[in-house]
Amino acid sequence: MNEQTLIIEQAKALISGEPDIIAVCANLSAFINQVLADINWVGFYRYQDGQLILGPFQGKVACTRLYPGKGVCSKAIETQETQNIPDVHQFPTHVQCDSASNSELVVPIIIDNQPWGVLDIDSPSFARFSGSDQETMEAIVSALSDHLKNG
Ligand code: SME
Repeated sequence: MNEQTLIIEQAKALISGEPDIIAVCANLSAFINQVLADINWVGFYRYQDGQLILGPFQGKVACTRLYPGKGVCSKAIETQETQNIPDVHQFPTHVQCDSASNSELVVPIIIDNQPWGVLDIDSPSFARFSGSDQETMEAIVSALSDHLKNG
């Protein structure tokens, strides 16, 4: 089993069998923080009433609410596509929660075409997230989405 597959399987093990989504997201953020080097923040925002509200995370204190049209996370919700931003300072509406962040990966969590939230990861390095990192995080979010949908 290669490293990417191992990480996905370990994440699936943390997801399966636990119905409480806060517990699952708390452990997933801790797990991603353990296995991804060179990151300074990882966590979840939940989409409610048009806003993204802070959920379980690892890292420094962060913005509690993100508003439509502002930031990389909102862009992921609007487009329903992963945002892999090599230099956040070039992203016009980027919301700076930690001045140490230079690149960011945001994977939207979509259930039945409705936004549920995002997985957000920040790094102090520029262009930190490879295509392989993106695929791995998308696979974890896909397992989480299946769990949210089917229990
Ligand atoms: N940078 C994000 C805001 C959340 S923090 O990175 C934790 C954004 O632009 O949406």
